[in-house]
Amino acid sequence: MKLNQIFSPYQLKTKFELRNRLVLSPLNIQSSLFDGTVSLNDLDFHRRVAKHVGLDVVGSAYVSNNGSTAFGSISVADDNKIEGLTKLASVIHRDGSKAILQLVHAGRMTNHLITQGSPAVAPSPIKAMHGQFDIPIELTETMIEQIIHDFETAAKRAILAGFDGVELHGANTFLLQQFMSPASNKRSDKFGGSLINRIQFPLLVVQRIIKLVQRNLDHSFIIGYRISPEEFESNGLKLASNLILMRTLKKIGIDYLSLSLHRYDQQSIANNELATFPIASIVKQAIGKDLPIIISGEINKRFDLERATGDLFASGRKLMSDPNWPVKLNSENFQMSTTSKISYTELSNLSHRNKNSVGGFG
Ligand SMILES: Cc1cc2nc3c(=O)[nH]c(=O)nc-3n(C[C@H](O)[C@H](O)[C@H](O)COP(=O)(O)O)c2cc1C
Repeated sequence: MKLNQIFSPYQLKTKFELRNRLVLSPLNIQSSLFDGTVSLNDLDFHRRVAKHVGLDVVGSAYVSNNGSTAFGSISVADDNKIEGLTKLASVIHRDGSKAILQLVHAGRMTNHLITQGSPAVAPSPIKAMHGQFDIPIELTETMIEQIIHDFETAAKRAILAGFDGVELHGANTFLLQQFMSPASNKRSDKFGGSLINRIQFPLLVVQRIIKLVQRNLDHSFIIGYRISPEEFESNGLKLASNLILMRTLKKIGIDYLSLSLHRYDQQSIANNELATFPIASIVKQAIGKDLPIIISGEINKRFDLERATGDLFASGRKLMSDPNWPVKLNSENFQMSTTSKISYTELSNLSHRNKNSVGGFG
């Protein structure tokens, strides 16, 4: 996409015009207080990095105490956190960005130290392969209903805190993905087995939040979903299954889809038949034009932005190291557009002057 398009306003949803197509990718910077209260460091970080993007997605706010993914994560698990979250939404808004709170439950990707004593839970009692994680307890149907309720209540708190939307963290092997994946979900009830069953949990979470918004808000509220398109293990989650999830999410009414990729032009590793196309292009083809897609993964240069397939472009580490990156890019854009506006007469005068000058430069 051309740079001047990147820096043009983008209508994400009625009432939500983004000033440009750049997004701060969700980052868990692990700087909250011990109980997940927003800290001054959190406020300072988002004040700096939200300054020039259209959308700032605050990473990995946990919806219940046993769902924290790392030490120092932000909590949205109880009402006491609303005050700090309100400050966070307001520093993001201050310079003109929209604010999204990413909601997460770690599932089996945590341990009792991170959760301050709560046992890890998951669709099935299978330990995650990598990392210092506990063997999780298998969730009962009552516990599943409680977590769906926790997601809904967390969304309510995000609304009260003044966020413009929430993003469900269905990527990076956390709980929503664990239900989708045949490698981590070995249940034999209505939440496990066939894809139709494995898809139930993420769909129920999203449906519950959509209903909450429809019931309570007369203005719009953004609901996004982040997804890792495929797992690399041979028995892992396949892109084809995820495409079904994505199409269903579109049907039930989410407002954007965010792809968590290592690189924006990454090709399918697990599926040889699709391996010649970038995953982002496959997803865009399958999903169609009318659901915005956020692309991420090493978008660091103008060249990357021009090549990436997507509607919005997220950067994590680049913006973290250089919050003014959008300004630098835009000034490059400005220089290009002013030179391209030189009239033909001015151009020929310039070349005439050049011809008559010693060494070609006058
Ligand atoms: C320190 C760090 C924390 C991250 N935390 C989150 C997170 O909370 N939620 C999420 O969806 N992705 C998270 N990510 C992934 C980023 O959002 C992004 O997808 C990844 O860094 C690739 O984009 P980049 O090359 O622009 O950094 C994190 C990445 C880093 C480096």
